[in-house]
Amino acid sequence: MITSFREAELAGWSTRSASYDQHLSPITNQVIAPIIAALGPLDGRRVLDVCCGPGHLAGSLAAEGAAVEGVDFAASMIAKAGENYPRLTFQVGDAEALPHASDTFDHVVCAFGVMHLRRPESAIAEAFRVLRPKGRFVFTQWGKDDEVLNIVLSAIADHGTPISDLPDAPPPLRFSDPRECRRVLEASGFTEVRDDLIETTWTNERPKALLDLIYGGAVRVAMMLEAQEPARRARIHDAILGAAKAHVFDGTVVIRRPVVVASGTKPSSA
Ligand SMILES: C[S@@+](CC[C@H](N)C(=O)[O-])C[C@H]1O[C@@H](n2cnc3c(N)ncnc32)[C@H](O)[C@@H]1O
Repeated sequence: MITSFREAELAGWSTRSASYDQHLSPITNQVIAPIIAALGPLDGRRVLDVCCGPGHLAGSLAAEGAAVEGVDFAASMIAKAGENYPRLTFQVGDAEALPHASDTFDHVVCAFGVMHLRRPESAIAEAFRVLRPKGRFVFTQWGKDDEVLNIVLSAIADHGTPISDLPDAPPPLRFSDPRECRRVLEASGFTEVRDDLIETTWTNERPKALLDLIYGGAVRVAMMLEAQEPARRARIHDAILGAAKAHVFDGTVVIRRPVVVASGTKPSSA
């Protein structure tokens, strides 16, 4: 029986490496170029990709000339990343207690990882620790106007019941607020802190594919749906489908997913 948030996340991600790569990577890959832009020159730089998932950010950083390593706590994600990029080094490890020495990397990146952590401050402190002075840390998080999350959460609010036996979880949208990203980065010692809002979109020919995206590419909302009793869950699915149909333009479902890109530099005196 799953008793903690971390256990639930680990169990969820461990069974989703293939479905995540199929359904979510086409969206999360849209932040790779902005992350690379936020880092500056990469040739020969050592970069760590934390919560690397299927490894595409690491792969793109390597293509830009960086010496990249990836770390993720789900062994199946690490296996998928190794399949996708066999020449790169990926290892199982926890973002909140990185298995790397201090002052090792020129840059650290973490795409869509912080909302999955019990103690995101510990992971940000770890990024600071393993960075060399003047190194840059960049992380991303879905923005507060993310239409996918809003559709699912409204459908659950309208047709579901609150579920009391899910593990106690940190607030999912905390880092969707750019001010909170800045506050935590500054409190962790980072300088030259920035937050930028960028647009990503999910597009598909089939409205029903939104359910595949949710169940195959997310853990927490999938758990919230799976915990509903069948009749309510069916109504929630209908509401999600109805919302997807309302987003059809010229035969294609187009759903906006704004993303916060937050970054900071480890000062040279640290
Ligand atoms: C939403 S996915 C992001 C994957 C990838 N970075 C991307 O942009 O597509 C979140 C990833 O964080 C990993 N993760 C969650 N909690 C973690 C932790 N405590 N330590 C390391 N990895 C973690 C999950 O296994 C999953 O691969």
